[in-house]
Amino acid sequence: MERRPDLVLVNVRVPGGRKADIAVRDGRVIHTGAVTSGNQIIDCSGLFVLPAAVDVHVHMRGGKQSAKEDWKTGSASALAGGVTVVVDQPNTVPPLTNPGAFLSRVHEAKEHSLCSYAINSGVTPNTPIEEMWAQGATAFGEIFYAPSSYSDALDIGDLPRALRRIRALGGLATIHAEGIIPGKDTGLAAHDSLRSARNESEAVIAVQEGNTDSCRLHFCHMSTAEAIEAAQGTVEVTPHHLFLSREKTRDENARFKVNPPVRSEKEREKLWTLWDRIDIIASDHAPHTKAEKALPFPDAPSGVPGVETMVPLLMAAVLDRKIMLPDLIQKTATAPAALLGIPPSGFSPGDRADFALYPDAAVTIEPEMLHSRCGWTPFEGFRAVFPPTVILGGTVVYKDGDFFPSDPTWFTGKGYVPPL
Ligand code: DOR
Ligand code: ZN
Repeated sequence: MERRPDLVLVNVRVPGGRKADIAVRDGRVIHTGAVTSGNQIIDCSGLFVLPAAVDVHVHMRGGKQSAKEDWKTGSASALAGGVTVVVDQPNTVPPLTNPGAFLSRVHEAKEHSLCSYAINSGVTPNTPIEEMWAQGATAFGEIFYAPSSYSDALDIGDLPRALRRIRALGGLATIHAEGIIPGKDTGLAAHDSLRSARNESEAVIAVQEGNTDSCRLHFCHMSTAEAIEAAQGTVEVTPHHLFLSREKTRDENARFKVNPPVRSEKEREKLWTLWDRIDIIASDHAPHTKAEKALPFPDAPSGVPGVETMVPLLMAAVLDRKIMLPDLIQKTATAPAALLGIPPSGFSPGDRADFALYPDAAVTIEPEMLHSRCGWTPFEGFRAVFPPTVILGGTVVYKDGDFFPSDPTWFTGKGYVPPL
C-alpha cells in the first residue's frame, strides 16, 4: 500500500479560485484534489497559501561580519517572512572569488542555515570561473559595475572576457549596474545625485556593449524606470525602491543609505509604472548594525535589511488591491526559481512543497517583530502581512514565532561536479 502523505493542506484556494487539498510526501506535492488522510493536516480556510518565495539577492554576512547577521539569524529572518530559499551574494569578507572561499561558505551555510540556499561566485580577473562553476556556484555576481559596500568593481576592460567565460559554461551573469560621479556624499539627496538614474542607465548600456558574446544577463536591484527601459535581460527590483523614497525621511538618515540609492518620490512612482516589466522582486537584504548606520552619513555603510519584510509588504499591497496575487507569486517564487534552475514551489504534483500561509489582515511593522540580528528596519510603521505558518520541504519549520528543525537543500548551479 502507498504510504500516507506526510502533510495535507486542506481547503487551499489554488490559483483560479478553486478550493483543493494539497498532499505532500518526501518534500514534494504528490496530489492536488480531495485528500482524505495524512500524518498532519492543516486547515487553510481563510488563509492565502502561497508558494514560498525564492529571494535571489541576499547578503547573509557571517564570519567577521556576524555582528550584522549570520546564516542562522538571516535564514530565520527569511523563513519568518515566507522565504524558503535565499541566494547569497559573494561580496562576503573574504569575497567568494576562489574555490577555497566558496567551499567554506557552503560549509558555513550547511552548518547554520535554517532555510534552503544557493551561493553565487564572485568575479574578478583572477577568479577561476570554470572551477567555481564545477564547485556549485549558482550564478556569477553580483558583478559590481561600481564599487559598493565590501566590493571591488570589475573594470569594464575585464568584463567582456569574464562574460565570455560565463557564457561558454551556459551560466548567468548578475549585474550591479551603477555609475558614480565624484562629489560629497553628505545625505540622501546627494547620494541620489552622485549615483543618478542617468548613471544607472549608462552602466546598463556599457555592460550590454561589453557583452560581445551574448551572455545571459540579469540586472540586480534596478532603481529607476530609465535603467529598466535600457535593460536587455531579466530585471530585478527591491521593495525599498518600490516603497521608500528619500522624501519619507530626514536627508541625513543613513538608515536609508543604500546602493543604488533610494530615489525621489517622483522616481518611485515612475518605477511602479513598469511593474509588468519587472521579472523578479528580490530584497537585497544587506544588514548593517545600528551603530554603523548611526555614523555620520558619509561614513555609514550602504545597505538595508529586507528579506523578512519583502513578501509581507507585497501582501499588504495585494490586500490594498495595488497589485494582484498571481503577480506576487510570479515575481517572488516562480520567476526567481526558473531564472536559476531551482525546482518550482507550487501546487502541482512534483512541485517543491515550500509554502507560506498568510491571513487577510495587515499589521504595522515594528523592529521587535523581526529576526535579523541587525535589529532595525527601514520599513518601521509600514503595513505588512506576515505568515504565521511556513513550510519547507513538507515540514512546518516556523509557526507563530517559533522555529522547528528543518532540512534545507543546497541548490547548486548546473555545472556542479560532486566530489568523489
Ligand atoms: O547598498 C548595498 N549594500 N548595495 C550593495 O550592492 C551591497 C550591499 C552590502 O553588501 O552591504
Ligand atoms: Zn548590489
